[in-house]
Amino acid sequence: MKKIKERAAALILAAASESFPGAELPSAEEITSLLEYPPDSAMGDLAFPCFRLSRVLRAAPPKIAATLAEGIADPAFSRVEAVGGYLNLFIDTAAMAERLISDIAAAGENYGSPAIGEGRTVVLDYSSPNVAKPFHIGHLGTTVIGHSLKLLHEFAGYRCVGINHLGDWGTQFGKLIVAYRRWGDRAEVEAREIDELVRLYVKFHAEAEADPTLEDEARAEFKKLEMHDEENLALWRWFIEISLREYGKTYRMLGIEFDSYNGESFYTDKMPAEIEKIRAAGLLTIDDGASVVNLEEWKMPPCLILKRDGSTLYPTRDIAAAAYRHATYDFDKCIYVTSAGQSLHFAQWFKVVELMGYDWYDRLVHVPYGTVSLGGAKLATRTGNVVLLKDLFAEAVEKVRAITAEKNPGAAIDEEVVEAVGVGAVIFYYLSGSRIHDINFSLSDALSFDGNTGPYAQYTYARTCSLLEKAGGVPAYKASAPLTEEERALVRVLALFPERVEEALSEYEPSVITRYILDLCAAFNRFYHECQILSAEDEGVRANRIATVAAVHTVLGRALRLICLKTPEKI
Ligand code: ARG
Repeated sequence: MKKIKERAAALILAAASESFPGAELPSAEEITSLLEYPPDSAMGDLAFPCFRLSRVLRAAPPKIAATLAEGIADPAFSRVEAVGGYLNLFIDTAAMAERLISDIAAAGENYGSPAIGEGRTVVLDYSSPNVAKPFHIGHLGTTVIGHSLKLLHEFAGYRCVGINHLGDWGTQFGKLIVAYRRWGDRAEVEAREIDELVRLYVKFHAEAEADPTLEDEARAEFKKLEMHDEENLALWRWFIEISLREYGKTYRMLGIEFDSYNGESFYTDKMPAEIEKIRAAGLLTIDDGASVVNLEEWKMPPCLILKRDGSTLYPTRDIAAAAYRHATYDFDKCIYVTSAGQSLHFAQWFKVVELMGYDWYDRLVHVPYGTVSLGGAKLATRTGNVVLLKDLFAEAVEKVRAITAEKNPGAAIDEEVVEAVGVGAVIFYYLSGSRIHDINFSLSDALSFDGNTGPYAQYTYARTCSLLEKAGGVPAYKASAPLTEEERALVRVLALFPERVEEALSEYEPSVITRYILDLCAAFNRFYHECQILSAEDEGVRANRIATVAAVHTVLGRALRLICLKTPEKI
């Protein structure tokens, strides 16, 4: 079905060119973007403010509204009224319901796909933890926003390449090597794996407070690593292997798989060519011994390319990685999801890529998000005051297990469902607000079955499953008896899904889908409580209501999966 706003825009344009011949009218897209959803349905389902047209049509807005209202007749709208400078359109929901619900039944899981990605490639760089440092709650954002953006792009037909740009190179390895040699022990690391590495990393920082020479020692060990010292390389590989095994557990829980784990170390041999290109473009200047690109003209501090000792930096590796990815994947977009703290870093090296003359510089997109705290406490890696992602998920799963046992004493517990609900609750809570806002995480709020939470949404989905199972087959929808207010409201929400998907994509904002899920659940549950479904007396009404439940089932399931939630059939 054509989206309702587009249909209205086409009608408005047609009526305007009919009544105001020769006028220079805005484009259909512009009209579409001016259309509003009025807060109160007494003012119509769609409203078009005529003020912007006043100049081109040389008429007062109320006059334009009245003229357009006269000129529009379409089965999609039961009523079109002028009120002041507004044109209010009332959707014929019964007619729309039949078209929409048949369309959803026909399109199935594809309903709402904007199909704009055909033949295009998107590279998504996300999660990307720093090896040997804890994978903590601060990584929740990049991991779930990144993955959801990947799912959204896949839904739109893009070929997606998910890259885990592991922080697997840098001075932290020098620190870890020093800490391991001084205070570590192989058996202990083998037994406690990442926990022991984190303990060593934290201890290094505690000890270095009192003895700053440890920092020099760490730098020297990293330098040895860069010079391919065998012993240090072996430790480095071992630390990475342990870390990857650990991340794998969390990714499996979240249903995330990456197409590539090429981390920072992968670009070691690819940097010299890029550095040469920067130099050849005349961009490199020496600043206090370091090689930098001056960005004063763009009101940014210089982008650091080489340290005084000639070693490379984070931006150097990012520039090399972008060039490599462009050559390898020929991307239409390369998306980076990190905390807003890195916004300057991305703005700087994106500019360097542009100055280097790469014509794909404008395909690089940084998607920042706000900070996460837990009970008000900011999370810091170095002090050991961290909440690990796996612990957060484990605690959520544990709580769901307890709630389930309490609700159904003695019943067998389905571990897969308990995990899907616990993990889903954390993700849903995190993806509820705009990504750029800082968030204070509350596990009990996230897990509430009564609030606007993941468990509530998954529970609503399970309700659609059980209704459909009892119905034993989905009939076709045929417009018949007038709809109840709850049915009309539900149909209107179902019709909004394609628009919301587009918005989530264009804003890089999975929370648009989360909020949509809440709207859909609210409308569905009102319908469920107020309207008889399986027990409806009229056969036609019963059939249509079952078909409506099936449509909600399809759309809700799709929407939940787009934000990385699993959709168990029974909870
Ligand atoms: N490892 C970095 C961190 O944890 C994030 C990497 C993001 N991706 C990139 N290409 N810079 O802060």
